[in-house]
Amino acid sequence: MKHPRIIQGGMGVGVSDWRLARTVAMRGAMGVVSGTALDAVLARRLEQGDLDGHMRRGIAAFPDRAVAGRVLSAYYRPDGSPDTHDFSSAAMRRADAPDAPRADPRVDELTVVANFVEVFLAREGHGGAVGINYLEKVQLPNPAAIYGAMLAGVDYVLMGAGIPLEIPGLLDRYARGEGGEIRLQVEGASKDERFYARFDAAAVLASPPPSLKRPAFLAIVSSYILAATMATRASGKVDGIIVENHSAGGHNAPPRGALELDGNGEPVYGPKDSVDYARMVGLGIPFWLGGSYGRPESLSESRAEGAAGIQVGTLFAFCRESGLLPELKKRFLKALEAGKALVKTHPEASPTGYPFKIAALEGSLSGEDVFAARKRVCNMGLLRELFKTGTGTIGYRCPAEPEAAYEAKGGDAKKATNARCLCNALLANIGLGMEYAGSYLEKPLLTVGKQLESLRQLVKRFGLDYSAVDVLEFLGLAPEAAS
Ligand SMILES: Cc1cc2nc3c(=O)[nH]c(=O)nc-3n(C[C@H](O)[C@H](O)[C@H](O)COP(=O)(O)O)c2cc1C
Repeated sequence: MKHPRIIQGGMGVGVSDWRLARTVAMRGAMGVVSGTALDAVLARRLEQGDLDGHMRRGIAAFPDRAVAGRVLSAYYRPDGSPDTHDFSSAAMRRADAPDAPRADPRVDELTVVANFVEVFLAREGHGGAVGINYLEKVQLPNPAAIYGAMLAGVDYVLMGAGIPLEIPGLLDRYARGEGGEIRLQVEGASKDERFYARFDAAAVLASPPPSLKRPAFLAIVSSYILAATMATRASGKVDGIIVENHSAGGHNAPPRGALELDGNGEPVYGPKDSVDYARMVGLGIPFWLGGSYGRPESLSESRAEGAAGIQVGTLFAFCRESGLLPELKKRFLKALEAGKALVKTHPEASPTGYPFKIAALEGSLSGEDVFAARKRVCNMGLLRELFKTGTGTIGYRCPAEPEAAYEAKGGDAKKATNARCLCNALLANIGLGMEYAGSYLEKPLLTVGKQLESLRQLVKRFGLDYSAVDVLEFLGLAPEAAS
């Protein structure tokens, strides 16, 4: 299989949307949609009136008319507009009871349709490579989400933020027309206790297809050891590895060994955190390099290391086709031009516990005042920790929920103090933030990679309103050399 050399990294929530991925894929690189929280993204786009009709076109292509109709009638508001922010509340998912079928298959309908629509639109009208990115940490919706993406014929599934050992096998099962499940990580559960998130297409679709195309699977990891673990212990074929270092935008792996912070409160990374690419070559699996590989020389440098190519995020996050609010893009790029852009690797801002890159931006949750003024609420729940309660059931808690509630459920107070609600903030980044009783609109929180010099050069060359096509040209991708 010939893989694209450049992967436009998946960027959640909705930053790498179908429009960006489609533009990139049409030029011969891999366009990757973010698969995170797509159920909320679709529902809210419909509630905002779907003014350009793309969501409804995607839904019209969904193979089960009854399911498509139910999603449309539940969320589409003909009178909605980009100013609509009183969105309906999301279903908080729960784990499946051991050895029992899913209690309510309807919770999966929106997820399957939403993942189908995003991939369908990204693939529409061309034969380029389209992938979808998920986070292993966000376990509960993943089985239904992945099925929806495969139903739309996704070419690649990419997954990081954890060790996604079970996913390749899940793709195999779906490809054979079978149902599947993943084992949930539940704190306090013994080795023998098993809790699952399951998906069976027959519970959602009246006539599921007997087989589906098996997408290639790429694991996103930060070390050779994890790459080797994926290569040897995964439940099915791992078709490629993306080795991402700690300068990348989004979540990063913590430093190896004990956590040390520098004077700026950022984790200190050392030589142990860099990857020996010669050993990667030895694994015999194609690999791509991510994190500060967005320079014009990066593609040839990666090839010299024996890699198949590069994964780039930050440059694409600010291009015209990305889902970020134009106002946020402009403010950050202007700060960059003025030499005032700041990005911090925050060790505690993300409820996941992973370091998270945060751009300083006025009015966003990067500011301590803005963060302190937000009343804590947990109404999306994607990053909740699952834990075993005293009565043996599964409990749910998030470090970003109201602190008293988190602590009452056994959560560690230290994890809560600085935790930001990424679910709500990342939706606000793309104009889909929730408003509460007309008084508080969720605030954004921008994530950006640390290496900003290439972004500065890109903007100098193409201006503030540049396209994904300009990024590919900047990276030296001639369309005919794409794959
Ligand atoms: C705005 C933004 C959001 C991101 N979100 C995700 C994500 O949801 N999942 C993921 O695996 N990586 C995510 N990333 C990482 C990118 O996919 C990519 O690997 C990374 O940005 C590459 O490094 P660079 O920022 O130096 O180009 C994100 C990056 C950015 C800038």
